[in-house]
Amino acid sequence: MKVMIITGSPNNNGLTAACGEQARLGAASAEAEATIVKLNDLKIGICHACSEGWGSCRERHVCQVEDDFQKLHESLQSYDAFILVTPVYWWDMSEAVKAFIDRLRRCEAFKKKDFSISGKPVICVAAAGGSGNGCISCLANLERFVDHLKGIKFDFIGVTRSNREYKLQTIYEASNRMAVHLKDSR
Ligand SMILES: Cc1cc2nc3c(=O)[nH]c(=O)nc-3n(C[C@H](O)[C@H](O)[C@H](O)COP(=O)(O)O)c2cc1C
Repeated sequence: MKVMIITGSPNNNGLTAACGEQARLGAASAEAEATIVKLNDLKIGICHACSEGWGSCRERHVCQVEDDFQKLHESLQSYDAFILVTPVYWWDMSEAVKAFIDRLRRCEAFKKKDFSISGKPVICVAAAGGSGNGCISCLANLERFVDHLKGIKFDFIGVTRSNREYKLQTIYEASNRMAVHLKDSR
């Protein structure tokens, strides 16, 4: 059983990283193979909206803008569940997360098989380490993404400076329960 934890912050020691680590520990404690992928360590640019809006993403389900996206996209298929952790920037997800999911949903939107996310559980975490503003709207946008990819909405967790302590515990628990759920359903 494999769980991918995708984080989208340039800060290796910040709130996003702490959330990602709790997600990893929670999944690992249920014997899942948990891997953290830091989007900011990869070169994943924005969608080019090729041609008149769609490129090879629509028919061939691959992105024609060549960078680190292709390898990551390909690897998603072998994972059973996902945890997406973003810092809240401007009441929304970070640019790194937005670039990745914009391209991913285009590639997956018209697929008939070999889905990356469809039918698999997803936990979304919004880490609003500033004022706490935008935590909810960020999660709402992440929900739309999970919806577009037909993922199973396992949990949506908002973290702020005030609730950090118990929400880190919540992330651990949610990740653990998701991995246990996967194990039990085998
Ligand atoms: C460009 C930018 C915009 C931000 N906008 C928000 C915001 O809308 N709401 C909020 O609570 N925090 C905001 N923050 C603060 C981040 O959410 C906070 O620093 C968070 O801890 C970043 O994650 P990190 O610790 O992984 O770096 C913003 C930070 C940056 C750099």
